[in-house]
Amino acid sequence: MALTREQQETLVRVGAGTPMGELFRRYWIPVLLSEELVERDGAQVRVRILGEDLIAFRDSEGRIGLIDEFCPHRGVSLFFARNEECGLRCAYHGWKFDVNGQCVDMPSEPEESNFKHKVRTAAYPCVERGGMIWAYMGPPELRPPEPALDWLTVPPSHIFITKRFQESNWLQSLEGAIDSSHVGVLHRYDLDHDRLHQDAEGPKYIKADTRPKFEVAEAPFGVAIGARRNADEHHDYWRITPFIMPFHQMVPPYGGNPTGGHSFVPIDDVNVWVYSFYYHPTKPIPPELRESMEGGSGIHSVNIPGTYRPRANRSNDYQIDRAAQKARKTFSGVKGIAAQDAACQESMGPIQDRTRERLGTSDAGIIAARRRLLEAAIALRDRGEAPPALQPEDQQIRSASLLLPKGVAFLEAAADAIHAEPGKPLVSL
Ligand code: FES
Ligand SMILES: [Fe+2]
Repeated sequence: MALTREQQETLVRVGAGTPMGELFRRYWIPVLLSEELVERDGAQVRVRILGEDLIAFRDSEGRIGLIDEFCPHRGVSLFFARNEECGLRCAYHGWKFDVNGQCVDMPSEPEESNFKHKVRTAAYPCVERGGMIWAYMGPPELRPPEPALDWLTVPPSHIFITKRFQESNWLQSLEGAIDSSHVGVLHRYDLDHDRLHQDAEGPKYIKADTRPKFEVAEAPFGVAIGARRNADEHHDYWRITPFIMPFHQMVPPYGGNPTGGHSFVPIDDVNVWVYSFYYHPTKPIPPELRESMEGGSGIHSVNIPGTYRPRANRSNDYQIDRAAQKARKTFSGVKGIAAQDAACQESMGPIQDRTRERLGTSDAGIIAARRRLLEAAIALRDRGEAPPALQPEDQQIRSASLLLPKGVAFLEAAADAIHAEPGKPLVSL
């Protein structure tokens, strides 16, 4: 069931005018962490998203601007502009742009000239939710309601987010997250040590049954992927991983721990931002857990200070430690879940050739997600159909891990467990 060349091209290209590129542009997209743009009139930041080079800044009134990186006058990068008095002033001739992309000053032209009113640069609206800055890059008249995903509804004390740069096409990272059958292999020894997995029943079932059966069900939010493992004579252990269109994936919780997730935001065709978070709907993240996540526990990356580039990366073979691999401290020799995922996914090359792969039954989730994405992209291109999960009610979904009686239809049986509401406790084993 490998993809055709055409299907592969459709899924991996994200630029403006491509089917997937246009699909992504109908959603709110995380473009930065709030920590990257704290100060009013502080340093502006380069942002490359969906192949577009942009500049983000926080103006004197705290509003966020996301505009074309290059000055419409003669193309100088606004990275060198002055961020002052509610706008970015180009360093070359002083043209100044506000958060709406309107030119508001043009000191190089005659005072009486009307030219500045006629000059406008591309600008995308932004909102701040859950410690992230989200932008809408689609047609203004089709702008959907602001994002209402479960993790964006909790207070800052209840969530911990990191991000890392990955040198691969966005789909490799999404597929890696959907494919939970690799957890019992690639991350096998990490389950023993990670405090996020302690005091929980779940890992016991995962290790006892490394051949989970995958069931998938199309849902209004995207695809529900259920990994079923044998628990006892009458029950199965289910880990339910919702894939929420277009690139969010939830990580099922263990015991009383927070639940997690990722957003895989395409930078361009060959690079992706991986946002990773843990949140708890009903209680703050304990300080010691926060500290351990800062040190790279769970799905978090340890980055080179001052950057979002992982310390263990492709250029240093992810600091592979063959002795640790032999001693079964790590399965691959790479330390940390985030680095292990990056090593595997980047090793496929910038764009994995999906016309040559050999998929098995455990790849059912990946197949379903691809189908959902392809269908949505083609329906939008050919019939102008609005994509799934633009409405808040379709985004109120979370992950769960639970025992269900053998033989039930998992999506129905777990419907309440995965329905998110602010303050509703997690269902987690
Ligand atoms: S290039 Fe920006 S003002 Fe001239
Ligand atoms: Fe993984």
